[in-house]
Amino acid sequence: MAGARPEAAAVSKTTPTPHGAGGRPPGPAAAEQAVTGELLELALGYVYSAALHTAARFAIADHLADGPRTADELAEAAQVDGPYLYRLLRFLATKGVFREDEEGRFHLTPLAEPLRTHAERSLRDYIMVRGEAVFWESAGHLHEAVRTGTTAFEHLYGVPFYDHVAADADLGKAFNSSMAAFSETLSNDVAEAFDFSDAKSVVDVGGGRGGLLRAVLRRNAHMTGTLFDLPSVVAGHVLDLPELVGRWSAQGGDFFTSVPAGADVYLLKHVLASWPDEECVRILRTCRRAMPAHGRLLAVNAMIPAGNEPHPGKTIDMLMMTVLNGKGRTRAEYEALLTAGGFTVVRVLEPSPHASVMEAVPAD
Ligand SMILES: C[S@@+](CC[C@H](N)C(=O)[O-])C[C@H]1O[C@@H](n2cnc3c(N)ncnc32)[C@H](O)[C@@H]1O
Repeated sequence: MAGARPEAAAVSKTTPTPHGAGGRPPGPAAAEQAVTGELLELALGYVYSAALHTAARFAIADHLADGPRTADELAEAAQVDGPYLYRLLRFLATKGVFREDEEGRFHLTPLAEPLRTHAERSLRDYIMVRGEAVFWESAGHLHEAVRTGTTAFEHLYGVPFYDHVAADADLGKAFNSSMAAFSETLSNDVAEAFDFSDAKSVVDVGGGRGGLLRAVLRRNAHMTGTLFDLPSVVAGHVLDLPELVGRWSAQGGDFFTSVPAGADVYLLKHVLASWPDEECVRILRTCRRAMPAHGRLLAVNAMIPAGNEPHPGKTIDMLMMTVLNGKGRTRAEYEALLTAGGFTVVRVLEPSPHASVMEAVPAD
């Protein structure tokens, strides 16, 4: 339909000066207004999440892959309402996700590119799943988590997150594929950062669908590897590739009980953050028991630095309080866990703020 930009005609052509009409520097009133504005933006931050989930759900970025389009053209392609879609895209463009030009056409931007389904580092699945009720409602009950010291998810659903996911095949599939999408962006960085030339075998413990294992085996043709995760998760593995034939196996099980024994390297990527300290130590001890004396453990996590700056580890920590009973940790906290699990940390690599690689060897 026409007229997806009813507000365009009313837009003022006057460009405001940085200090307002009179050019005076901002006084106390302007400073107060700025504070109010900033706090209101923070308070309403959830509408950015909702807008992003919506754009991902309707595959708007896919519809822009061949060039810019108006909101009406996009609405027709996505089978949604034109004027509402226009308002959504105009809002997202304020954060650099899509860009509107003077003809009212929307363009892909660097921030919109990962919303494409087949983008090299696509985050579409990840973003969509984070809009599902289990995450969204849990976030809305963060106050319960803070009041009681347990996750909002358990307060709402009465069971731990992974039990719930295991019982809901559709959600499980969507969650695992979203983790894979997120991991895809980091697996190559991790596989690249660590020198596996001395190792012949690797086990990826809680390895999800095997994205990291695949990245390691692709770069190291001399290695074999085992993917280890819950049976329902390894069933959806991504290892069936011609270049990996004969070099991998996938095994379902419980990392609190046992993991495949005898490998040179054990990977534990984004697993410890999902569990409280006591469970982390149990997982680490299981790995330690399975490992030969010369074995090495690579624990990959976002590590929270000191100070007030934003960091992915701090954001993941909030996610943990809402959904999983885990926590974001500092380097010292991770080192303490590894020590309690029977390891000595020998070095830390930092290929990405999302993925510090802590290399550890058996302590005895
Ligand atoms: C946050 S995901 C990380 C997955 C993968 N390592 C990655 O980085 O994408 C945690 C993984 O632990 C697995 N997991 C949870 N409980 C488990 C258990 N008891 N035994 C084995 N794996 C488990 C989940 O299925 C999930 O794949």
